[in-house]
Amino acid sequence: MACCNNGESCCDVNDDGVVHDTVKEYYGKRIQNTSDLKTSACCNVAKPKSAEVLNAMNSIHEEVTSKFYGCGLVTPSLLRGMKIIDLGSGSGRDCYVMSKLVGENGSVLGVDMTDEQLNVANKHINYHTQKFGYSKPNIGF
Ligand SMILES: C[S@@+](CC[C@H](N)C(=O)[O-])C[C@H]1O[C@@H](n2cnc3c(N)ncnc32)[C@H](O)[C@@H]1O
Repeated sequence: MACCNNGESCCDVNDDGVVHDTVKEYYGKRIQNTSDLKTSACCNVAKPKSAEVLNAMNSIHEEVTSKFYGCGLVTPSLLRGMKIIDLGSGSGRDCYVMSKLVGENGSVLGVDMTDEQLNVANKHINYHTQKFGYSKPNIGF
């Protein structure tokens, strides 16, 4: 249970559906940006080493990065032409980084269950398509 405070339980794991709803409520409503995270379990410990990954990260829209709730991206930088799926993609930061790394002929699909996160991710498809100089999006959520 990653979303608990001070050891208190925030969800009844024996009740099917409660965990699902609690996770959705947490990522969709309770936290609005990275600084609202209630646990240090989601800490950004991975340090991107390659210039390609750093460069891609620096070109992501601010609203997308402000809602990054992950633990850091571990990815090879040589992904050109690959097809990638990201499960639990949130606002899409890692997807957009990989959208740049795979290039116009690769593709990225982000999957998430939280509407609020998906709305942010979908909102910035055109922004990144233009930013990366692509003639059409190579990404979907
Ligand atoms: C720790 S956050 C990470 C989000 C994103 N990868 C990032 O780095 O910002 C976990 C995400 O997984 C999603 N998630 C959790 N369980 C899921 C499930 N069963 N199906 C789809 N998405 C799920 C949540 O909605 C949340 O956006």
